[in-house]
Amino acid sequence: MSNADVRAVMRIESLSFSTSWPTSAFQSELNDNKLAHYFVGRDGQGPDAELVAYGGIWVILDDAHITTIAVHPDRRGLRYGEQLLVHMLHESISRSASWITLEARESNEVAHNLYRKYGFATISTRRAYYSDNGENAVVMWAGNLRGELYARRLATLEIELDAALSSEVR
Ligand SMILES: CC(C)(COP(=O)(O)OP(=O)(O)OC[C@H]1O[C@@H](n2cnc3c(N)ncnc32)[C@H](O)[C@@H]1OP(=O)(O)O)[C@@H](O)C(=O)NCCC(=O)NCCS
Repeated sequence: MSNADVRAVMRIESLSFSTSWPTSAFQSELNDNKLAHYFVGRDGQGPDAELVAYGGIWVILDDAHITTIAVHPDRRGLRYGEQLLVHMLHESISRSASWITLEARESNEVAHNLYRKYGFATISTRRAYYSDNGENAVVMWAGNLRGELYARRLATLEIELDAALSSEVR
């Protein structure tokens, strides 16, 4: 993600979250936070390719944290979210993270399914974490990212993802 992407990111952000981040939050993550790494997914190649997804991580020593991930509502269910998560897992691992965490709304079954597919488990609940409706957050975690077992799991899921993407294109 670059500063030039923030306008398109904000459109998806406001369609995706009841308490959306302000533009300044993305700008400050991109320009001031050395621990932050943000990515976008586009539909197609080249300068005119539409931005349809984005996500971010913080990596602090061996700990990675997924700060956000969202796909444009019209493009959900097409594996953009999964591709972005895979990319963020690789970025985390290549930056020496051994484990990764995130918070998700307790009601966000779609996100829970995506994360569980990639080996995340719920480790705790933060009561009334979300200020708009008092909803609980679940804290999810995946560990030993640099171990043999996780590498094999990720490789298998990526083969399945590639196969699903190529059959969807056909
Ligand atoms: C969560 C989100 C990023 C998923 O992205 P997506 O591109 O729609 O999801 P994908 O097509 O990549 O699907 C990947 C996996 O997610 C889960 N999933 C996706 N859509 C689902 C649905 N409608 N119902 C249940 N699970 C679903 C499944 O596990 C799926 O894998 P599978 O089909 O092999 O079972 C997207 O729904 C989104 O932007 N939601 C709003 C923002 C948000 O809640 N972000 C998460 C904050 S923690």
